[in-house]
Amino acid sequence: MKVTVVGAGNVGASCAEYIAQNEISSKVVLLDIKEGFAEGKALDLFQTATTLGFNTSITGVTNDYSATAESDVVVITSGVPRKPGMSREELIGINAGIVKKVSESILKYSPDTIIVVVSNPMDTMTYLTFKSTGLPKNRIIGMGGALDSSRFKTYLSIALNKPANDIQGMVIGGHGDTTMIPLTRLASYNGAPVSQYLDSQILEKVASETMVGGATLTKLLGTSAWYAPGASVAFLLDSILNDYKRMIPCSVFLEGEYGLDNLCIGVPCIIGANGIESIVDVKLNNSEQSLLNASADKIHEMNTALSDIL
Ligand code: LAC
Repeated sequence: MKVTVVGAGNVGASCAEYIAQNEISSKVVLLDIKEGFAEGKALDLFQTATTLGFNTSITGVTNDYSATAESDVVVITSGVPRKPGMSREELIGINAGIVKKVSESILKYSPDTIIVVVSNPMDTMTYLTFKSTGLPKNRIIGMGGALDSSRFKTYLSIALNKPANDIQGMVIGGHGDTTMIPLTRLASYNGAPVSQYLDSQILEKVASETMVGGATLTKLLGTSAWYAPGASVAFLLDSILNDYKRMIPCSVFLEGEYGLDNLCIGVPCIIGANGIESIVDVKLNNSEQSLLNASADKIHEMNTALSDIL
């Protein structure tokens, strides 16, 4: 199996690191536009193989898409990350041109690939990739829900003072500070609803901490996060390349599912060898559905900024 990660910045390199360490793919190609940068990151990472005992090969290239040929999955992390105080939405203008060009170059050499979009604003960039490539919707996956859900479960575990892996939960909606929807009603501590242990005030706090989870890190780090984003991409790729068919919230093009149309937004999906194998219909209550509708309205509005490029 071959994975290409476009963008050897923090998220791209982290993602390559987790893929290699967990031997999710036999080959990883890192590509970046900055001369020598991907080569350096790849070599540094590959030099950990004998110490850590993994068999994945990692190579780096400067903007040479021929090296990415016949990738099974390509991850797009290209573009600029947010700076403290910036919203993901403010990045549309800069990142749209980059993401469109990257996806065109990728498809020249890997026409059958599945594309995972990480660049922000992620839902809009996923929509752009879907519309501009014309690929079937199962092959364009926006990575946001896996990351937001991992943050949600982490904050729940802190509030409950219980091990993170004993917590289940998911975040749907947009990958934005005001568009994501942590489904607190459905979250559980080993199957018992978390509402049995946390009162509504605490649950609301957990939900708002989750929603600004990325912004909190951007403020602390001075740039956007990379460990959890990189690990979430690897988690998604593990399900694709091993055809595990895990249920993971992902941004996908909707055509009537959840009553929404003509946008990419986070909903629970079955992720396997064909990418998005199916969309899972989790029964939302009225208030959750209204939050999803409001989130969709904001994403539709953001997508209008793509009119010049689409
Ligand atoms: C974050 C960026 C990757 O949420 O969107 O950390």
